[in-house]
Amino acid sequence: MGVVLGIESSCDETAAALVTSSREVLSQRIASQDEAHAPYGGVVPEIAARAHAERLAPMIAEVLEDAGLTLDDCDAIAATAGPGLIGGVMVGLVSAKALAMAGDVPLIAINHLEGHALSPRLADPELAFPYALLLVSGGHCQILLVEEVGRYHRLATTIDDALGEAFDKTAKILRLGFPGGPAVERLAREGDAAAVPLPRPLFGSAEPHFSFAGLKSAVLRAHESGQYDAVDIAASFQQAALDCVLDRLSRALDAMEPVPALVVAGGVAANASIRVALEGLATSRGMRFVAPPPKLCTDNAAMIAWAGCERLALPDFAADPLDFVARPRWPL
Ligand code: KG4
Ligand code: ZN
Repeated sequence: MGVVLGIESSCDETAAALVTSSREVLSQRIASQDEAHAPYGGVVPEIAARAHAERLAPMIAEVLEDAGLTLDDCDAIAATAGPGLIGGVMVGLVSAKALAMAGDVPLIAINHLEGHALSPRLADPELAFPYALLLVSGGHCQILLVEEVGRYHRLATTIDDALGEAFDKTAKILRLGFPGGPAVERLAREGDAAAVPLPRPLFGSAEPHFSFAGLKSAVLRAHESGQYDAVDIAASFQQAALDCVLDRLSRALDAMEPVPALVVAGGVAANASIRVALEGLATSRGMRFVAPPPKLCTDNAAMIAWAGCERLALPDFAADPLDFVARPRWPL
């Protein structure tokens, strides 16, 4: 059994976790920077990088202590090496390099999206390759065929905003604070999803891509018209977004070889309405539906440590070099 220390610092959560190859999360901690960024209505890269630099080293000591382990017990150090806000990514990656060097163990540079893509397998030992994956976060909105560790085939992406971004922008318009996704979801529960006529961009189009910019603009117009309550705007927005997701995903599934499981991951996968709707879609197609627990959907280090475990178990595993360069952009 291997133990991997995982580090995540690509956006506004500083996180560290210890995970075993037998799927045990020995310890994990997450420090959110929400309060630091809230006055600006979004993540400020410089503030994020400084906060990671202050918080990460003590946090790594804490997760080791929580698990009763030392660096010598770790078989590898895995850190997000991109994509993300480069200052923060560098803080995590440089820390991982120092620990790998000090402990004389492999460094594993993880693509943050790969962390999300493999996270459902940490929660569900039954989930085998291949699977269809909807990856929906603040920065990404993709449909992928996950063939095996390291082999991801992208079937669709967004031509403008990511789904989480659309939730965050809607929250900003409705002055719900930051981060917006959970706040929009809470408000939507009290509203009428049919009250506000909103567009469903790209609905029915042949390629399974996403677009949410027009929906966000329509939310802004509806709000500025003064005709609608915020609860109804939130509910109608969430419904429109959901309709788009189901339509685009159906289109992508129609175009690919059948696979046994439909999987969702990324921060927006924490949304209960989306989970219910996707489960319905999977059932109607005779597919199994897998969604990690909400805490594993939003950014965390357990998924990075787990992606490290998956890489470490490959027969042709090779450590990443200590001069591995942090990548602000890094498509899967
Ligand atoms: O994966 P994640 O934590 O960070 C990125 O890699 O981007 O995703 C964060 C995104 C944010 O846009 C946030 O508003 C959204 O996920 N989100 C949600 C919910 N929880 C988080 N969106 C809708 N409903 C939620 N419950
Ligand atoms: Zn993420």
